Amino acid sequence: MSQPSIQLIRGFKDILPGETELWQHIERTAIDLFEDFGYREIRIPIMEKTDLFARSIGEDTDIVEKEMYTFTDRGKDLLTLRPEATASICRSYIQHKMYAQDPVRKFYTIGPMFRRERPQKGRYRQFYQIDAEIFGVAAPYADVELIFLLRTLFDRLAVTDTTAHVNSLGCPVCRPRFKEALSKLLDAAAPTLCSDCLRRKDRNPLRVLDCKVPGCREAMQGAPSIIDYLCDDCHTHFATVTDMLTKLGVPFEVDKQLVRGLDYYTRTAFEIQTGALGAQSAVAGGGRYDGLVGSLGGPEIPAIGFAIGFDRLSEIVAATSPVAVRPPQLFIAALGEPARAKAFQWATALGIAGVGVAMEYGEKSLKAQMKQANRQGAGQVLIVGESELQAGKAVLRNMADKSQREIPIEGIVEKLIQTLH
Ligand code: HAM
Repeated sequence: MSQPSIQLIRGFKDILPGETELWQHIERTAIDLFEDFGYREIRIPIMEKTDLFARSIGEDTDIVEKEMYTFTDRGKDLLTLRPEATASICRSYIQHKMYAQDPVRKFYTIGPMFRRERPQKGRYRQFYQIDAEIFGVAAPYADVELIFLLRTLFDRLAVTDTTAHVNSLGCPVCRPRFKEALSKLLDAAAPTLCSDCLRRKDRNPLRVLDCKVPGCREAMQGAPSIIDYLCDDCHTHFATVTDMLTKLGVPFEVDKQLVRGLDYYTRTAFEIQTGALGAQSAVAGGGRYDGLVGSLGGPEIPAIGFAIGFDRLSEIVAATSPVAVRPPQLFIAALGEPARAKAFQWATALGIAGVGVAMEYGEKSLKAQMKQANRQGAGQVLIVGESELQAGKAVLRNMADKSQREIPIEGIVEKLIQTLH
């Protein structure tokens, strides 16, 4: 009796050939854009000490309280699979003193993140992000550049059904006044709040604004918006961001309700939302986090960034402009071992010369091999068997117009490269 097969973990998924072409296309488009704007790739580990995420994302957030994959390793360290990339990039920036020579750094990274959320369409437990961060720029240019890059990337990928939502979350100067106003409302609404929000309301009242429980949402209907409490500096910063976005022709909406699910944000926060994904409307999110580098033990250096939900973006692009799989230019149909051995040599030589080539490695009839070539969408088929080897000529068949011609085996690789390039 064979064993039952093992299935993948709930909320995890395979990205299969047929999908990976699209993922690569998105990745290349993003990387080209980032590199044109001076962003450099950084690769950070998939695991960090749990403290890093608890201190940056915030103890009272859903991510840290409920969603992290945390475990004690054999050396008894408390470790967590990264739920996002920003905290790790900050850790790396500080640890390698990247600020010493020039605090202004632009990074991008692409890779898997892990959050133990309830899986549904567009929401996975292992998902991928395309992340970009700018360190060392306090000026609103950085905010505008990042939102502009998101818009440009989405345009290049022909993703149109999106809106940029922007808000300002203020700074340590203006937040206390806002928290005071919010706390008054929260005290009055206490009987209708969920148990999480009851706990959070005194420790971290802003988090209640991000709660998805219907009762809490209803209680927060008339809640004050932080944007109405901004200090002069935050107000000017936000006005400049919106003004520059308008001048650049980037469409956006000011969304007073936008709070984001992570604690580290200050000032500008933004999300790209779409109607194309059902309940999971955010295809990208980001914002400024001017206090984070300092609070993680580095110097006081402002920073801002975003992360795109790669899975969500790929689902939108797949529905609108699927990427075609590149078929082989040439299929070699060899008959008999001597011909197959020759064909294998030619195939390797053609492959390294950049010709897309495929062949059958076992003994199969010509009919079966022609079917295979057809299924793979090969442009041409080279037919070679015992008699062709003896005659010193193989047959090249054009699969589109079904025409055939003989081609000398002497110098065949060079000839095929010329014909197929
Ligand atoms: P976030 O809003 O938590 O921000 O995630 C960014 C994007 O990742 C979301 O808009 C969504 O598209 C995608 N995403 C999040 N969770 C899932 C999931 N379970 N399944 C599929 N996609 C998901 C951050 O992570 C911040 N680090 C962004 C940032 C960078 N802020 C500053 N710099």
